[in-house]
Amino acid sequence: MSNPAPATPMTPTRTATKRSILMCKPTFYTVSYRINPWMHPEDPTDTDKAVAQWQTLYGVYEQLGFDIELIEPIDGLPDMVYAANGGFVLDGVAYGAKFQYPERQPEGPAYMDWFRDAGLRVAEPVETNEGEGDFLLVGDVILAGTGFRSDSTSHEEIAKVYGRQVVTLKLINPSFYHLDTAIAVLDPEPTADGAQNIAYLESAFDEPSLAILRERFPDAIIATEEDAAILGLNSYSDGYNVVIASRATTFEQQLRDRGYNPIGVDLSELLLGGGGVKCCTLDLHPVGA
Ligand code: ARG
Repeated sequence: MSNPAPATPMTPTRTATKRSILMCKPTFYTVSYRINPWMHPEDPTDTDKAVAQWQTLYGVYEQLGFDIELIEPIDGLPDMVYAANGGFVLDGVAYGAKFQYPERQPEGPAYMDWFRDAGLRVAEPVETNEGEGDFLLVGDVILAGTGFRSDSTSHEEIAKVYGRQVVTLKLINPSFYHLDTAIAVLDPEPTADGAQNIAYLESAFDEPSLAILRERFPDAIIATEEDAAILGLNSYSDGYNVVIASRATTFEQQLRDRGYNPIGVDLSELLLGGGGVKCCTLDLHPVGA
């Protein structure tokens, strides 16, 4: 008598959703100050290489059929390429960023001007917050990071702006100073079974935050330290295609095993500023999309 075939876990079917994003070309990119452990102003940077790598990312998004908006880069604001920090946009409302460090503070009004010109209502921030760097929409809920950049008071502020539930998560490792360096949202829209999955780095969070993540996302991908150490989690998903750092090979396999389609991009030059794929990508969450 033959044994029954071993049960193989079903790989779920993923669905790509069209995304609408805002990006900023790194025309004036360099590392001239140090506001995170990745940045070494004494080391050279190559702006042309940064532009070429960013262009590759842009091309991948274009191929995926995304709507890509561009904000004009400003000379003297080298971190403006990390558009995710420029604000948080949802329901036609842009909650502006108020940067922690003076070097980046002029970016807040620059992005708010762009949002206004794009026809969005702007909610001017009173509290310190760094936009989608620390605010990630998962279903109806906003996961909100604090510990290094965004003040926890901004979590109350954003909750009022959108009338949504905001879940505070505390970051504890200065190398993972923004929430989007420690969590990747894999399903930007609810999946057929209602699940919404993420990937995260356990060691980046304090114990109470970990307990929340484990309870809310029991099937989450647990990232390796190696992948996180090249900002591998700093990725952008349309629900099926997940654009990741090409060197994040374990993450790549973990995504494949779960039915996603990882697409590797090399942003080594932008890593010198402490950013990766997601940092360069602000999700505009258009109304009715
Ligand atoms: N140099 C920038 C900073 O430290 C990098 C920002 C990265 N952005 C992100 N969304 N994690 O502010």
